[in-house]
Amino acid sequence: MARKKTEKINKAKILIVDDEKSLRDSMQMLLQEKYDVFVAKTGKQAIEIVKTKPIDLVLLDIRMPEIDGIEVLKIIKGINESIEVIMVTAVIMVKKAVQAIRLGAYDYLAKPFDIETLQEQVAKALEKKKLTQENLSLRLLMEKDNQFEKIVGKSKEIRAIFKIIDDVAKSNATVLITGESGTGKELVARAIHNRSPRKDKLFVPVNCAAIPETLLESELFGHERGSFTGATTRQIGKFEIANGGTLLLDEIGSMPIIMQAKLLRTIQEREIERIGSGYATPVDVRIISATNSNLRQEIKNYKFREDLFYRLNVIPIHIPPLRERREDIPILVNHFLQRYSREFGKKIKGMKKSALDLLTEYDWPGNIRELENLIERLVVLTKEELIGTEHLPVEISGQSQTETDLNNGNFFEAVRKFEAKFIQKALQKSSGKKSQAAKLLGIHRNTLSNLEKKLSLEDRT
Ligand SMILES: Nc1ncnc2c1ncn2[C@@H]1O[C@H](COP(=O)(O)OP(=O)(O)OP(=O)(O)O)[C@@H](O)[C@H]1O
Ligand SMILES: [Mg+2]
Repeated sequence: MARKKTEKINKAKILIVDDEKSLRDSMQMLLQEKYDVFVAKTGKQAIEIVKTKPIDLVLLDIRMPEIDGIEVLKIIKGINESIEVIMVTAVIMVKKAVQAIRLGAYDYLAKPFDIETLQEQVAKALEKKKLTQENLSLRLLMEKDNQFEKIVGKSKEIRAIFKIIDDVAKSNATVLITGESGTGKELVARAIHNRSPRKDKLFVPVNCAAIPETLLESELFGHERGSFTGATTRQIGKFEIANGGTLLLDEIGSMPIIMQAKLLRTIQEREIERIGSGYATPVDVRIISATNSNLRQEIKNYKFREDLFYRLNVIPIHIPPLRERREDIPILVNHFLQRYSREFGKKIKGMKKSALDLLTEYDWPGNIRELENLIERLVVLTKEELIGTEHLPVEISGQSQTETDLNNGNFFEAVRKFEAKFIQKALQKSSGKKSQAAKLLGIHRNTLSNLEKKLSLEDRT
């Protein structure tokens, strides 16, 4: 019982408006299996229904007594612009039809029509509505995000990035943003979009690493209903959603090699093919990609296509890690302190110099994201007006770590922590190059790998 109810809610709602009973009945019969159908004899009735029911699509007769179809169309669009309307007319009155389309009707249908034409038109109009709605909700989501699109920093590195953003924003050139995790790659991509002529269209990020290989293709290009097992509805791909705007292919280094070939073709041909559609649709999308892996190395390992790399890397932007531009740390601290104090309604004045010094010395393996998370936590937890060293977590304050460990009475845990820190430091110094780090530590490369596994360095403590 409950199941039936949800099905009904999910069905699209169609309103048939016609003064001729036989036509109303036959259209209702044809559509009611798939849709939730309402009928109205007059324009007035139609308007009442539109006001009270969440109608998706109206099939509207042009010639009716009392109020004529064109007037009803105007009123419906006034009530809710997102309702799609198909005009139905006995004689093709070209002038009227053109007028209706200008007023926002989706299309018109000439009587008599066959079943297929009716069903096809209805499906197309509903598809358009769905797409517009998806775009709208995405846009709202993006706009919310954009309020915070503010890149803070004064180092020469960040100033150079500001300049590239301004220079490339106007063009359509593909951009490849590289940088460690949390350095602000997505933020820079958004900044480019928001300063480009495409800013009124969508910025659509896709995380290539988070989507299973089998789903990535339909995520990007979309699929038709029934094109593979599980494809119960038609899906519009991110390329189509981003049409006219910008697509961010995040973590591009994780894209499977087969998808890389398809992406390359899309960039070259400027068209996409929904899975199972059998035809190509032109798309106009600016592509920005981002990665924290070394794509040149991936090319050598046959994990990344060289031709695709050159297509994506027309304008390279490298964002250096925070530890290589420490002068940005105090400004970022301030920026986040202000933002989160406002957000949480706290009256935090600032940070004591001793604490700020510690933050400036710290290496920030998680870069700005780590800094931002820390400040957010501090704002929430601190009761005083000024944040001091005593509020900082131990990994930053380094506060008598040995003593804490001793109190906890765990020798092996303390040694593990020390080993982990020592190795991380060496890896950082050698920019992640294992053989170089091993040399620094005075151990064999294999020993380093074994230690990393043993200490499971991924989950930093
Ligand atoms: N220069 C900056 N000024 C202000 N905020 C920044 C700056 N750089 C990054 N941020 C903030 O830091 C956080 C991480 O940035 P972002 O998500 O763009 O990083 P990323 O490089 O895409 O990270 P990942 O590789 O983990 O996906 C975001 O909340 C972002 O707003
Ligand atoms: Mg990112």
